[in-house]
Amino acid sequence: MAVKKGELVELVIDSTAFGGKGFTKIDGVAVFVEGAIPYDRVRAKILKKRKSHMEARAIEILAPSPFRQYPPCKYSGFCGGCKWQFLKYDQQLEYKRQHAIDALEHIGLIKGVTVHDTIPSDLVFGYRNKMEFSCSDRRWLPPDEWEKGNSDNDVALGLHVPGTFDKILDIDACLLQPELGNNLLRDVKQYIKNSAEPVYGLRSHSGFWRYVVIRNSASYEEWMVNIVTATEKKDEVQPLADMLKDAYPQVVSIVNNITSKKAGIAVGEYELLLHGRSFIKDTIGGFDFEISANSFFQTNTRGAKQLYATTLEYCSLSGGETVFDLYSGTGAIAIYLSQYAKEVIGIEIAESAIEDSRRNCQKNNVSNCRFILGDIRTCLSDTGKTADVLVIDPPRSGIHKDVVRQVIDMGAEKIVYVSCNPATMARDIGLMKEQYHVMEVQPVDMFPHTYHIEAVCRLEKKHSGC
Ligand SMILES: C[S@@+](CC[C@H](N)C(=O)[O-])C[C@H]1O[C@@H](n2cnc3c(N)ncnc32)[C@H](O)[C@@H]1O
Repeated sequence: MAVKKGELVELVIDSTAFGGKGFTKIDGVAVFVEGAIPYDRVRAKILKKRKSHMEARAIEILAPSPFRQYPPCKYSGFCGGCKWQFLKYDQQLEYKRQHAIDALEHIGLIKGVTVHDTIPSDLVFGYRNKMEFSCSDRRWLPPDEWEKGNSDNDVALGLHVPGTFDKILDIDACLLQPELGNNLLRDVKQYIKNSAEPVYGLRSHSGFWRYVVIRNSASYEEWMVNIVTATEKKDEVQPLADMLKDAYPQVVSIVNNITSKKAGIAVGEYELLLHGRSFIKDTIGGFDFEISANSFFQTNTRGAKQLYATTLEYCSLSGGETVFDLYSGTGAIAIYLSQYAKEVIGIEIAESAIEDSRRNCQKNNVSNCRFILGDIRTCLSDTGKTADVLVIDPPRSGIHKDVVRQVIDMGAEKIVYVSCNPATMARDIGLMKEQYHVMEVQPVDMFPHTYHIEAVCRLEKKHSGC
């Protein structure tokens, strides 16, 4: 094959690959093309050449795919927040379904499963209830600014350039969050820029300001601002909180999380309350949830309703079952299922999420849920109960193989696997396929304009003779 790294080639894209890239072949070798979608004819630069495949980036669209649309965001193409804004929404839904099918077939080696049409998101913009913006002591300059000779390496508060840990694109507004979040973002940024304290360097690991996490409630006019800093300096952050509280009555919670850890995670070792209360409230399916800064809550509240409704349907509960909710977060699934089951036992590693779960049960008058704090890998047997139905909703990395083994040994009649990563879901389900029939999968779009997809999979225990 004559193509070399750095060479420009003309390509017609055949399909999509995981990660949202376009896929085609050159002389039988797979090429993954960033910034391209099926039926595009593009000029692309070969970035990496391996024996098995090549990676390329589209640098010019020679003939656009009929599935292209004009991306409304000025950062589209550079920002890692959403990479598919230029793809029509119906087509996004179709490709997401296809990813679920491909993952099951190629990773889980499971063929012939019914994968339903993707349930769309009610909102395709302004749907996110949580945005995490990173600070950096050097703003990443997009190519047009480089070309104009702009060397202003001012600080940044924004989102990562795709695939990088240290390149932050400075953002004034993100269309994935409601507009008020953008006003908050701009005001916080202005304050940080004027502050005497330095912005954190992602390579030097020194500096003060680290992240700004903005949360909002889809059901109540409530907002939270979580300012994450490297050290505790209340004199520096309290005036920011006072300014926000005076300007935005909708902001009912302002907290300061403090972390000395180098890891790029916006979670504090401890938290200071700067204004109001330490949580905001939201509603799913008629239940109220109190969500604190470090607790997991589905980021698309309206989408979560669809997700939980599918989970409930797949559990097909008659009222007498003991259900385990593994990786239970703030207890949202457990509470949603509670009125249809005898009891629900949640297991979760984050202490703040367990506290939220217990409080959420009280607030909603739910008395048949119990939550265990701990790592599922070591405390699955602490329940002292046998599960009729297991709901498993792990993080993107999926389930540890030791846990898969324990899950199989538990022998529940039904498993409902909820996943935000079809690849790890397919891997984990693949390990259960000797003991469980994989019945059906329902993709639910919680993340429009990204290639990410949530999926719910229904498994039923095999009995001898099946
Ligand atoms: C995708 S969230 C699921 C949350 C919940 N089911 C919901 O819908 O809101 C995954 C959760 O797993 C928790 N988690 C991650 N690793 C864990 C582990 N080893 N043991 C227990 N919980 C874990 C995280 O803290 C997070 O709350």
